[in-house]
Amino acid sequence: MVWEVLKWAGLVVFILFAGTALTGAPFVPSRRRELDIIFKKLYKLSKNDLLVDLGSGDGKVLKAASDFGARALGIELNPLLVLFSKIRFIGNTRVHTKMRDFFHSDLPSKTTAVYVFGDGRDMKRIAKKVQEQANKIGHPLYLISHAFELPDQKSIKKCRAYYLYKINPTNE
Ligand SMILES: C[S@@+](CC[C@H](N)C(=O)[O-])C[C@H]1O[C@@H](n2cnc3c(N)ncnc32)[C@H](O)[C@@H]1O
Repeated sequence: MVWEVLKWAGLVVFILFAGTALTGAPFVPSRRRELDIIFKKLYKLSKNDLLVDLGSGDGKVLKAASDFGARALGIELNPLLVLFSKIRFIGNTRVHTKMRDFFHSDLPSKTTAVYVFGDGRDMKRIAKKVQEQANKIGHPLYLISHAFELPDQKSIKKCRAYYLYKINPTNE
């Protein structure tokens, strides 16, 4: 009986993680030590920022952002990771997590910075999404991309395997 329950629970967890990997990057967390460096050296995060993590996983980036005094929003598709993150930030009113597909979500109008640890194959779509959101919001968005560069755009700064872009609103 216990084995049956464990087997089914394992299958559900596998399907959830494999399923989200089909829509975007699989869950691989960023490293906290590196986040501390990039939020100082690549993009100086402060209490005036609202950082949105596209695919927020277990909330590691949200936690680092909050420790720097920023407000943070995670958009994550995997319900188990969303639940983990929500539990992690109980009592922290400056951090929120939503269960959504980030390709189909609008960013809050106060967003200043966007973090993404995506998948190489999605970078063009992510660039388009962030550009659309900058146009909608009407102010520049700083995009921090871990591991992958945006196609056809030059980063304004690079630190380790992190690239910083300034996405200005356009009239298109
Ligand atoms: C490489 S992990 C990065 C996690 C976290 N941002 C970090 O750096 O620690 C990518 C995350 O994006 C999530 N994800 C993939 N596609 C997504 C989508 N379309 N909408 C929301 N989340 C997505 C995955 O479930 C996974 O947790």
